[in-house]
Amino acid sequence: MPLVTTKDMFEKAYNGGYAIGAFNVNNMEIIQGIVEAATEEQAPLILQVSAGARKYANTTYLTKMVEAAIITSGLPICLHLDHGDSFAICKDCVDSGFTSVMIDASAHPFQENIDITKQVVEYAHDHGVVVEAELGKLAGIEDDVKVSAKDANYTDPDQVEEFVTKTGVDSLAIAIGTSHGAFKFKGQPRLRFDILEEVSKRLPGFPIVLHGASSVPQELVKIVNQYGGALPGAQGVPEDMLRKAASMAVCKINIDSDLRLAVTAAVREHMALNPSHFDPRQYLGPAREAVKQVVKHKLVDVLGCNGKAFI
Ligand code: G3H
Ligand code: 13P
Ligand code: ZN
Repeated sequence: MPLVTTKDMFEKAYNGGYAIGAFNVNNMEIIQGIVEAATEEQAPLILQVSAGARKYANTTYLTKMVEAAIITSGLPICLHLDHGDSFAICKDCVDSGFTSVMIDASAHPFQENIDITKQVVEYAHDHGVVVEAELGKLAGIEDDVKVSAKDANYTDPDQVEEFVTKTGVDSLAIAIGTSHGAFKFKGQPRLRFDILEEVSKRLPGFPIVLHGASSVPQELVKIVNQYGGALPGAQGVPEDMLRKAASMAVCKINIDSDLRLAVTAAVREHMALNPSHFDPRQYLGPAREAVKQVVKHKLVDVLGCNGKAFI
């Protein structure tokens, strides 16, 4: 099976009240852990690559490993650009075989966001590639820019119809209170489901994307802190909120930080308990297994997309 777009996946997810997991990939072990989990759970998959991942691992290496994932798993897999911030990077990914790109022009004023997104949509659609855009601005740290959690950053439902109609975009990331990274809420976690509800009323049947959706499992935070510290006070999105979003119009849920936590906890724990080990396979093997266990849990207990690969 070749790489697929998200068109069919999102249609089924929307109608079925579940969401597809979009997992960030940066190296072979992360890809393998995710793909092993999805294979066991027969889940459709979105593997996404950020600009940072492209710089770290080289796009050719990543795309070739994703091709290997398709061969070994036989699953429907979409290769997606995460947070492309210009037409140039989106074009580059379309040209190198991605089946989906995100143009994130959300830092620009509304009309400019429309213009940039539209340009990407025209090029991508001409090449059979789907496009995600972002309206509103997530709180937290994104591309080294710190955005405070003020109401002004939430997506304005009054803008979504115009944005989608004028750009022709295929899915829309909205800001309802999630944020990137491991420190999402200072106090009580709160998501603006009223905004999600309102957006889906204005865009019936249209797939919505939730970024910053790691739940930051406290058992992993505990291990990371026990063997070196660094994450006191880390807090993610409660899983019941993610399940609720998945049952609504949210068809794609982005997870990166939880995979980073899984890798770091496994490596730190392994090296603390086995200080004499120096073969990378001895600690990257457990890291791969930890990624797999986190992803299996997400697919089955949070997203509900297990068993949906070939429906
Ligand atoms: O939204 C951001 C993703 O977690 C990717 O992060 O740009 O550090 O690869 P990155
Ligand atoms: P997390 O930092 O919550 O994993 O979000 C990842 C993300 O939104 C990637 O685009
Ligand atoms: Zn994101």
